Amino acid sequence: MSRTADADRTWLVTGGAGFIGSNFVRLALERKAGRVVNLDKLTYAGNRASLADLENHPDHVFVHGDICDVALVSRLLEEHRPRAIVNFAAESHVDRSILGPAEFLETNVVGTFKLLEAARAHCARHADPCFRFLQVSTDEVYGTLEPGDPGFTERTPYTPNSPYAASKAAADHFVRAYHRTYGLPVLTTNCSNNYGPYQFPEKLIPVMIQNALGGEPLPVYGDGLQVRDWLFVEDHCDAILAVLERGRPGETYNVGGGSEITNLELVRSICALVDELVPDSPHRPHARLIRHVADRPGHDRRYAIDDAKLRRELGWRPRLGLAEGLRRTVRWYLGHQAWIEQIRSGEYREWMTRNYARRGECST
Ligand code: NAD
Ligand code: DAU
Repeated sequence: MSRTADADRTWLVTGGAGFIGSNFVRLALERKAGRVVNLDKLTYAGNRASLADLENHPDHVFVHGDICDVALVSRLLEEHRPRAIVNFAAESHVDRSILGPAEFLETNVVGTFKLLEAARAHCARHADPCFRFLQVSTDEVYGTLEPGDPGFTERTPYTPNSPYAASKAAADHFVRAYHRTYGLPVLTTNCSNNYGPYQFPEKLIPVMIQNALGGEPLPVYGDGLQVRDWLFVEDHCDAILAVLERGRPGETYNVGGGSEITNLELVRSICALVDELVPDSPHRPHARLIRHVADRPGHDRRYAIDDAKLRRELGWRPRLGLAEGLRRTVRWYLGHQAWIEQIRSGEYREWMTRNYARRGECST
């Protein structure tokens, strides 16, 4: 394959073997938006198989390593002189942060800090007015909403409730401080719940699809009336590209799906899709498998995003609605059982037992 992207537009993408990162790398390469140096530690959530179709792409360089390794990051910056760092690397699962928060501090806070330090030193050595540091953050830093509250805006104060959200909030504060104090040209995006291909099967949607297919219980935390706003992962990646290319340094941009739904309704929709797409399943109707289990401690009741700024300033819109996105997602998992199977062993099984065995079933 010949090299296709503009050689001046190399990006250092961290966490690009994870769910959103791998979708981002794929979209960036498809659009010939840039050459990607992809730095990933390959934790339990990182997976080279999610990049299998990009292994030999001339504009994709995979590097196995840790964002906390300053010497490695500095070497990559010197060698590739990227126009941007796009930081996806993180511990991302709220339930894991409750059972073991230390790793979240290490990667999400210390890792982001070390990347910022490396970026600051790099900018001091090579003045490049186009350089950007983009921090991929979450709506969870804003805390929780009551029914009827307006959505989070970029001005909503940070009030994180889980160790995961607190670690992301701390990282975002460092990102902001590096802009105000050192003039580092940073951008931050705060996005709602993503779903779609390559999501690790510990998160709500793939857990429900896989358990339904296997005729296993569908564990709904508490009453299941918590509300989340769902965005198809490619639409999130498209928003990140827009912010990277046209966002104003120092600014933050909320990204949302405009698709609020309770967990219970969402799980029922997944069950209906599996009923339809697997008509010969012995487990139909799959909604019979729903079980209410003990709630997540500190569980945020509702998230909703006001992304008017992103829409107004950068003209971004999500392309896929929840109904069509869910259908595509269920179809993708049905067609990629081999990808799932190589994950569903060892560490994954231990995690599923540890997380769900202690919850039991409750009568909510
Ligand atoms: P993920 O858990 O699927 O992937 C994380 C990736 O980071 C993995 O490939 C992992 O190997 C890598 N990684 C972890 N620690 C690392 C380290 N120290 N050095 C290098 N690589 C490391 O996560 P995701 O769902 O794709 O989320 C990506 C980013 O987007 C995270 O920062 C998350 O906070 C944010 N985010 C996620 C969502 C969502 O719904 N999933 C929504 C908004 C924001
Ligand atoms: O809002 C953005 C965030 O979305 C990201 O920052 C996180 O990285 C990402 O993991 C996600 O966090 P959530 O906690 O919202 O996602 P999760 O898939 O874990 O859970 C979604 C909802 O479903 C939540 O209310 C908890 C509930 N749930 C989850 C699981 C795994 C269940 O009821 N049962 C389950 O088995």
